Amino acid sequence: MIQQLDELKTKALQELGQIQDGKELESWRVRYLGKKSSLTSILRSLATLPLEERKSAGARANQVKADLESELQEKEPALREARLVSGTQKEILDISLPGRPLPNGRLHPITQTLNEILNIFVSMGFQIAEGSDVERDYYNFEALNIPAEHPSRDTLSTCWLEPETGSDEHTMLLRTHTTAVTARVIEKMKPPIRVIEPGRVYRYEATDATHLPMFYQIDGLAVDKGITMADLKGTLYEFARNFFGEERKVRFRCDYFPFVEPGVEMAIECLTCNGKGCRLCGYSGWIEILGAGMTHPEVLRRGGIDPEEYSSFAFGIGIERLPMLRYGIDDIRLFYGNDLRFLRQF
Ligand code: DAH
Repeated sequence: MIQQLDELKTKALQELGQIQDGKELESWRVRYLGKKSSLTSILRSLATLPLEERKSAGARANQVKADLESELQEKEPALREARLVSGTQKEILDISLPGRPLPNGRLHPITQTLNEILNIFVSMGFQIAEGSDVERDYYNFEALNIPAEHPSRDTLSTCWLEPETGSDEHTMLLRTHTTAVTARVIEKMKPPIRVIEPGRVYRYEATDATHLPMFYQIDGLAVDKGITMADLKGTLYEFARNFFGEERKVRFRCDYFPFVEPGVEMAIECLTCNGKGCRLCGYSGWIEILGAGMTHPEVLRRGGIDPEEYSSFAFGIGIERLPMLRYGIDDIRLFYGNDLRFLRQF
């Protein structure tokens, strides 16, 4: 019986060595290791042998079975690989063909601009704060020293929300500026404060090439002992140099915003004509990019900060205008039209 087992093994291995594909391999497995194989019947017949013979033949039979199984396991992956690489006429699978690239997304140009500006201020020690698009009348106007009769409270420029049930008073709105976050920060944080506040803002306005009912702003705030206009100018000058380049000239002029005193607007030398005067800058050579000022003492007081002890500067930047200036985009609506031919350029 032992001799029979050895012959069986030799034959099986010889055949295995010549096998070329999966089908042949399977029939080999059935033939030598299957339920009806001669090895299985030998194993079954062991019970009829005398004890001594049963022991030695049994051990050899099990050994042969284990050997054949392990050879089979080794052969399987080798066959699979050979099939993938060479490919016969019947099963062609060319794994050398490069895969189809998955289209890669990108950040929206406005998101890119926001990130760039936030990075500049974060590197100067500002931390990021966010409010919500739906805001209370109090933080958008009242806390910022904007009295009820101020034109920006006119229902024409504000998107008001329905009054809460049981009331006919409009107290909720879509914030008209991120300065509302400044009002919340002043109330919540203790000086020293350095925050930068990005977000969407809403105005009840008709859409045209330079206006949208929704756009982005970033407001900023610094509160500390001894903050002066020089800090305001230095910080914003640094921002302009980083964003527009070292050479870009900057101009500050007086302006009015109810929540700052004094208030200023900052302009940069026109990017198109370098200050000579062109259609884009209205032949002035300058383009306004942000509003700023020394936070009004009343605004600090309402938020629980003593204006005798602390002073503060604040600023607000409209975002869409910046990439428009930088890339010469003449219609703000392009940013939100979802036309990939436009968006893919950034
Ligand atoms: N909130 C103003 C606007 O939407 C911009 C602004 C001006 C923000 C001066 C400020 C500031 O923080 O100090 O037009």
